[in-house]
Amino acid sequence: MRHLIQPEDLSNQEFMDLIETASHILAHPELYKERAKGKILASLFFEPSTRTKFSFDAAMLRLGGEVIGFSDSQSTSSQKGESLADTIRIMSGFADIIAMRHPLEGASLLASKTSRVPVINGGDGGHQHPTQALTDLFTIYHYKKKLSGHKIALIGDLRYGRTVHSLIKTLARFKVDSFYLVSPEELSMPRHILDWMQANYPDIHIYVLHDMEPALRDCDILYMTRIQKERFFNEADYLKLKNSYLLDAEKMQLAKKDAILMHPLPRVNEISIDLDNDPRSVYFEQAAMGMYIRMALILKLLEECDD
Ligand code: NCD
Repeated sequence: MRHLIQPEDLSNQEFMDLIETASHILAHPELYKERAKGKILASLFFEPSTRTKFSFDAAMLRLGGEVIGFSDSQSTSSQKGESLADTIRIMSGFADIIAMRHPLEGASLLASKTSRVPVINGGDGGHQHPTQALTDLFTIYHYKKKLSGHKIALIGDLRYGRTVHSLIKTLARFKVDSFYLVSPEELSMPRHILDWMQANYPDIHIYVLHDMEPALRDCDILYMTRIQKERFFNEADYLKLKNSYLLDAEKMQLAKKDAILMHPLPRVNEISIDLDNDPRSVYFEQAAMGMYIRMALILKLLEECDD
């Protein structure tokens, strides 16, 4: 049984195949509107979500399937003390595929052990977010026509942000040129990820920075992130760091003319609204692309079950 718990669960070829399918769906959505007819997605969100949950739900509906689930676990038996393992065992008897998000790292992996259907990790604490990595690669490929050779800036909360943990490990596999890791000292990329990069991809340049400017000047892809308030242990630390990086039209003048500006969203104040009409800003399109790549992923995992 195939699950998607972390990006490493997909080969490079599978990433490219999913991007190709998503591009085809984007161009010809009518060809896909009955492809998951009769199938049910369980959408189990134990943590808040707008883009991930509703893009999964919309993806399944646009494939002709049905959706059951919740976006507030207060309404489920987990409030009576039911374990995640039992909830998943039960839900996998009702549905053909599960998309889930949970505040605890490793929750999706645990769920996959008791599930009888494929489990897709829609975010597990500060750990991984593989379908956001798929969304991000699809967006980069769509705008840049290739994944290799880029200089990429990851800016903001690199410690708690699960999107950048999944993204750096995935893009590294596609022969990118360099990563500019811009964060306050307290929110730097975890050591184990830097060690993994060094051990597996020693040729990729890594620049660890606190200042955004060199990254803005040099990079082809600017990936802003939100400071992850919900993962801080105390409010004072959050307040100290919350305005670390604010990108506005004036600062964006430093960036390359053909750079793209991405953000997994939600933004709080990292990107000023005066950048929303800048042709380099692709964050809203990026969110929309998340639905198409999730359609491709649902189809792939359902088809593999039928084989
Ligand atoms: C991200 C997440 O949940 O990790 N959002 C998303 O899925 N697009 C980023 C965030 O919440 O900051």
